Amino acid sequence: MGAQFSQFFPPRPTFTEADVSSQNGKVFLVTGAASGIGFELAKMLYRKGGKVYIAGRSEKKARQAIKDIQSAVPEGGSLEFLFLELDDLSSIKASVEAFKAKESKLDVLWNNAGVSQPPLGSVSKQGFELQLATNCLGPFLFTQLLLPLLEAAAAENASSSPGSVRVVWTSSQVVELSAPPEGIIMSELSAPPKDNVRNYVTSKAGNWFLAAELARRIGPAHGIISVAQNPGAANTNLLRHAKWMKYLSWPLLHKARLAANTELYAGLSPDITIEKNGCYIVPWGRISESLRKDLVDATKLKENEGTGRAKEFWEFCEEKTKDYR
Ligand SMILES: NC(=O)c1ccc[n+]([C@@H]2O[C@H](COP(=O)([O-])OP(=O)(O)OC[C@H]3O[C@@H](n4cnc5c(N)ncnc54)[C@H](OP(=O)(O)O)[C@@H]3O)[C@@H](O)[C@H]2O)c1
Repeated sequence: MGAQFSQFFPPRPTFTEADVSSQNGKVFLVTGAASGIGFELAKMLYRKGGKVYIAGRSEKKARQAIKDIQSAVPEGGSLEFLFLELDDLSSIKASVEAFKAKESKLDVLWNNAGVSQPPLGSVSKQGFELQLATNCLGPFLFTQLLLPLLEAAAAENASSSPGSVRVVWTSSQVVELSAPPEGIIMSELSAPPKDNVRNYVTSKAGNWFLAAELARRIGPAHGIISVAQNPGAANTNLLRHAKWMKYLSWPLLHKARLAANTELYAGLSPDITIEKNGCYIVPWGRISESLRKDLVDATKLKENEGTGRAKEFWEFCEEKTKDYR
């Protein structure tokens, strides 16, 4: 219970922008950075001299975000827009191609974009439950297609800064608080219950599982780190479809800037070494050592005393996205 309380009311961040050296020459991509936590993160990365891609489905919102960052931060790196519509699998390869036309490497990818509790029955362009599609299937495919660029960055940094190339996945505390045993009930992926909160929790458990499974599959061989994080409860647009929940949770909601510290830590902190690949980060930037046991077991293979649920979920995502690679 103490571990949950400290995610609601975290200690002060110990890793902030002040601890980050110049990021000149680094290429960063933050999905959903036109608003909320991603916006605050993009501002930090820009201030540190990074080249920051704001990936989102609305060019207008992204251009406004770029303007807002540039007027708040007089001197920084550079900011670019990348079109990305996560709920349309057929569009994602073109987004990656557009990115590849400009960049030959990617240092850190933050899979931050997400949707929570849209009207019941909302589905993606391919007919998947919208939260599963936007929060898991889209980011899974996007990450898979970007792997060669992450590998290029890892090769470049292998001796100078091992462990600096990362994929950060965005989970949530709701997983530990309310996910069923083993996090995801596989049959619910194909037949989602008429319960939008449950479907959100499933997608956020999925984000955790994809982080752990990517770390297991490619981490050691390619020198890429993959981590999951709960950014912390923040007052953003996320609950635009669930206003009642926003009012109920109001006393728990912090500033988005604080939650961006969690994402900054996940992407840049030197605490996260190759040995810590697959770890889970909690607000405002700490590696958690006290996670729900059934969920940790779900990230392990059966032959390693786990249940293999994360692997099953990965394979589900692989199957559903295979025609769009
Ligand atoms: N805020 C919290 O308390 C909290 C707690 C735990 C975890 N999280 C997670 O943190 C992440 C950031 O959320 P936030 O709180 O900063 O909320 P937010 O302000 O609503 O940001 C979410 C971003 O995702 C984008 N997005 C949604 N659907 C998309 C799609 N189909 N394609 C591309 N982009 C899409 C949104 O763009 P549009 O404006 O175009 O919709 C928006 O820019 C989410 O993954 C969320 O689940 C948040």
